[in-house]
Amino acid sequence: MAAMWSPIIGLLLLLLQLAPSSSSYIQLPLQGNVYPVGYFFVTMYIGGKPYSLDIDTGSNLTWLECLHPNHQCKICKGPHPPYRPNRSHKMVNCGGQFCTDLHKDLPPYQDPPCHARQQHECHYHVRYVEGTSSDGFIVNDTVFVDVFAPSKRVQIFFGFGCGCNQQPQKYSPVDGILGLGMGKVGFVAQLKAHNVITKDIIGHCLSIDGGGYLFIGDYNFPAGVSWAPMRKYSHYYSPGPAQLLFGRKKIGSKTMMVFDSGTTYTYIPDGVYSQLLAEVKQSVSRSLERVTDQALPVCWKGPFASIQLVKGKFKPLALEFTNQVMHIPPENYLTLTQKKNVCLGILQTPKAGGQMMIIGDVTMQDLLVIYDNVDKRVGWVSKQCKHNLEIPSIRAL
Ligand SMILES: *[C@@H]1O[C@H](CO)[C@@H](O)[C@H](O)[C@H]1NC(C)=O
Ligand SMILES: *[C@@H]1O[C@H](CO)[C@@H](O)[C@H](O)[C@H]1NC(C)=O
Ligand SMILES: *[C@@H]1O[C@H](CO)[C@@H](O)[C@H](O)[C@H]1NC(C)=O
Repeated sequence: MAAMWSPIIGLLLLLLQLAPSSSSYIQLPLQGNVYPVGYFFVTMYIGGKPYSLDIDTGSNLTWLECLHPNHQCKICKGPHPPYRPNRSHKMVNCGGQFCTDLHKDLPPYQDPPCHARQQHECHYHVRYVEGTSSDGFIVNDTVFVDVFAPSKRVQIFFGFGCGCNQQPQKYSPVDGILGLGMGKVGFVAQLKAHNVITKDIIGHCLSIDGGGYLFIGDYNFPAGVSWAPMRKYSHYYSPGPAQLLFGRKKIGSKTMMVFDSGTTYTYIPDGVYSQLLAEVKQSVSRSLERVTDQALPVCWKGPFASIQLVKGKFKPLALEFTNQVMHIPPENYLTLTQKKNVCLGILQTPKAGGQMMIIGDVTMQDLLVIYDNVDKRVGWVSKQCKHNLEIPSIRAL
């Protein structure tokens, strides 16, 4: 696939000088699922090689596992060979504008941004709510993106993290993270700076059968989107505080809700969580039997051939906002495990997440979720995310 495109790279680079078309967006197919993979990811060609990157609307920095002569990535654990910058690759200097801006996008950390030993390197350290982290420095290389309306494949230079030290060191289905937060110098901002897109709008459609798609730019929204004013809450995209309902019953008090595509399950703060758990357990206690399954903490005994066959036993959830309601059918909070038991795909918010409700992938399945940074609003609409038919075919020049 990569080889197929190489003869036209030179030509395509010329496109970068073109004026932006009035409405353009990029669209990338997604792979992965909630269970057992636990990630939805894109495959991007960076420096001409493929990398699987977890799409994460909850963080800003894009990074991939990296092997550099001076800093070996200790255990590279992703599915592809790590990225290898070579001497001719452009390092992004510490102290430069990009590096200064990037540090504003990252949560503050102890290390001084410019290391005394490696003055030239723009170092980064990023730590996620789940406790995982990545350390490295910023490099600058090419990436291919498929642009639509009109469709073409273009190549741009972009700055990203060369991840030399990831914790914990264990196997991962992805090589790194595509940061889609509201960062000033993230991937989306760089697409815009290169005139590939004109609008900072991001959307994802995660299929309940796995896969789906991601778009960035000026996309034609389908009818019926529920919009809420966008708020920023603790670094995340938020439609504001929400009241949780189980069936028609109010559970706990209003909590701040955020969307985070980098989180597999949905997290609810402790007080609300325990009340919800009691309600769910009680409502199915006559028809289902509890079972221990290592996949998740709260499960009921199968075997069930599909979620469809058992979802009738569970009441739907809903989130009430000031002017909107988000309906959460049982299939958007339940997970079927390898042992065919059915489990609650809702967990208690970890300490680092404070009192917020994090809407993760499980609850965003078969929804088109839109983060509109232009009109400062977030939206969602039910959608079958499976088929990719609406991706127009790419016209290779
Ligand atoms: C270094 O990277 C550049 C750009 O990707 C490439 O053209 C060149 O062949 C590479 N050099 C080596 C020694 O790998
Ligand atoms: C990366 O290199 C390109 C080409 O030299 C340059 O236009 C761009 O500004 C650089 N980006 C960063 C983040 O250094
Ligand atoms: C991403 O960057 C924006 C703008 O610099 C900042 O407000 C936000 O808190 C950052 N998000 C994270 C997760 O650090």
